[in-house]
Amino acid sequence: MNTIEPLPSKASPPGNIATDYQFPTSTHIPGTEEIFTAISDSSKLAREKSQSLPPGSYIDPAFLDFETSEIFRKEWISLAHVSQIPNPGDFLKVDLCGEPLLVSRGKDDRIKVLSRVCRHRGMDLMPNGYGHPEKGNQRVILCPYHLWSYELGGKLIGVPEMQEAEGFDRTEVCLHEFRSEIWEGFLFVTLSEDIPPVAEKYGELRDRFIGKWDLAEAELVWDQHWDCEFNWKILLENFMEAYHHLGAHRKTLEPFLPAKGCWTEPYNENFSVMHLPLREDMKEEILASGDAGTTMTPFPGLSVEDYTEWWVYLGFPNFLIFNAPDRTYWYRLLPTGPETCSLTTTMLIHPSTKEKEDYEEIYRNEVDAAISFHLEDMEVCVATQQGIRSSIARPGRLSHLEEPLWHFQKYLAGKIEEYQAG
Ligand code: FES
Ligand SMILES: [Fe+2]
Repeated sequence: MNTIEPLPSKASPPGNIATDYQFPTSTHIPGTEEIFTAISDSSKLAREKSQSLPPGSYIDPAFLDFETSEIFRKEWISLAHVSQIPNPGDFLKVDLCGEPLLVSRGKDDRIKVLSRVCRHRGMDLMPNGYGHPEKGNQRVILCPYHLWSYELGGKLIGVPEMQEAEGFDRTEVCLHEFRSEIWEGFLFVTLSEDIPPVAEKYGELRDRFIGKWDLAEAELVWDQHWDCEFNWKILLENFMEAYHHLGAHRKTLEPFLPAKGCWTEPYNENFSVMHLPLREDMKEEILASGDAGTTMTPFPGLSVEDYTEWWVYLGFPNFLIFNAPDRTYWYRLLPTGPETCSLTTTMLIHPSTKEKEDYEEIYRNEVDAAISFHLEDMEVCVATQQGIRSSIARPGRLSHLEEPLWHFQKYLAGKIEEYQAG
């Protein structure tokens, strides 16, 4: 009898071997000037004629240089929610486009955004590979190099063997503090000294929309970090349209938040807002009963009409909020390279939800559901980045259900114009 020899154990079917190798795009990556022109032209199209961004904007390192200097180093960037660092000594490690940062709450209870660059010879105080956690509580931060130590408010407190350094006064030295603001419970940082306060940019977004949730009182109960193999805008665009509920979320979100009924508020220069109404029969039931029908406690201050939909909000450039009556998903999204980004997905709830008897079980179920639909997003985003690297990739036409992408293009085009005007 003939037998089929099993494959040697190290062999894998073709295509399944993991590799770090990135194939070069064989023909043509448009130069940055061409990308600028394409975005600018695209942003001027009528909504009905809108199309996606040029593929080069998701690949080209020079375009990321532009985004870093003109967007991530100049705008307000949300880094944390205050409930993530409730106690003195709490900290989060964050890297903002090459700036090593420490979000910390000092002894005086003040939240600051400090640089992690040691004031001695410049080492990152919490470098990768030294076992520092991404978040935690410490009384002191110790530089691993020569053991200078700082308190969480940034003051230098310990300096071994510096007694012969003439005129050196450690009390005059502290970690650099970046400009930051707490707005609606979120901590924003900017590396710019010139831009106006956060409230000026997002005041209308709060007054007309997210102010109803009282996010300053909310509590962040879940966060999950993702190192992503796609450009940051792939995730942002995926976040801001409900069109993909039809495909990517057909089993999870589409059954109760059908893509078809979603609609977008008119363009605003500071933000984009999309409404995601619940399935028609669910809406009718809520309006008839006055009951939100949610697993967690709805935020006080919402009306019964507010119970009938979910919302996605993008405060330009990357303040991402997905609101339901009983929870908020907030994302921290930062580029880590032209084709990679770092994403932290979180869930915030009203603290009264924790008083529910079955809270533990509700929490577990909600986190499982959140991980499931986020995994669906990860798959399509990775595959989009792979497709967009092809030499034949071109901008494609957009559905009316993707209107926020066209709004975002207008924001980007504005930044390009400012940059070109010098
Ligand atoms: S570089 Fe930090 S102590 Fe020397
Ligand atoms: Fe999604």
